[in-house]
Amino acid sequence: MAPSAHPRIPEIRTVMFPRDINHMGSIFGGHILSLLDLAAAQFAHSFSARKYVTKVMREVNFISPVYVGDRVSFYCTLRHVGTTSLTIRVDVEAFRGIRSSKIIKVTSAEVVMVAVDDNFHPVPVLDRPRKKKRGKKRNVENA
Ligand SMILES: CC(C)(COP(=O)(O)OP(=O)(O)OC[C@H]1O[C@@H](n2cnc3c(N)ncnc32)[C@H](O)[C@@H]1OP(=O)(O)O)[C@@H](O)C(=O)NCCC(=O)NCCS
Repeated sequence: MAPSAHPRIPEIRTVMFPRDINHMGSIFGGHILSLLDLAAAQFAHSFSARKYVTKVMREVNFISPVYVGDRVSFYCTLRHVGTTSLTIRVDVEAFRGIRSSKIIKVTSAEVVMVAVDDNFHPVPVLDRPRKKKRGKKRNVENA
């Protein structure tokens, strides 16, 4: 299946360039990590408009190498909404070749993004309006 026909919409999809290779000729893992981080940050921002910093990246297991010319997609899924943090799963897939329809799973990771103020102090992700205190329903006739 071609990426354009993919049912999910990637947060980022980009082509790998020669400037991003390591000494063995495949794409440098740090480049994929930085895009993964960026995808999670963009996703967090679109969920709730805040400033975010990356707190945790869990279990980044590179399954397959990525090569120059691969089109790499970063798909984000919301896993958990905390008070000041969002936990986001990022799945990374590469699409290789012009005629081939091969999708290669590159890696997936869980990223915890923390919403912060201008002083880098954690702030709530959501504006939760205070719930109005409701009195017990009174029976007007017997009041
Ligand atoms: C992010 C930062 C502001 C958080 O400060 P902190 O003192 O750890 O704040 P808290 O303990 O209140 O935790 C904030 C949130 O992170 C979560 N958190 C902290 N450590 C965690 C961990 N190891 N795993 C999962 N969540 C974690 C907390 O549960 C909390 O979320 P919640 O409010 O939704 O429950 C601070 O650690 C920081 O500035 N880190 C550097 C960030 C950065 O520069 N990132 C880029 C790296 S190059």
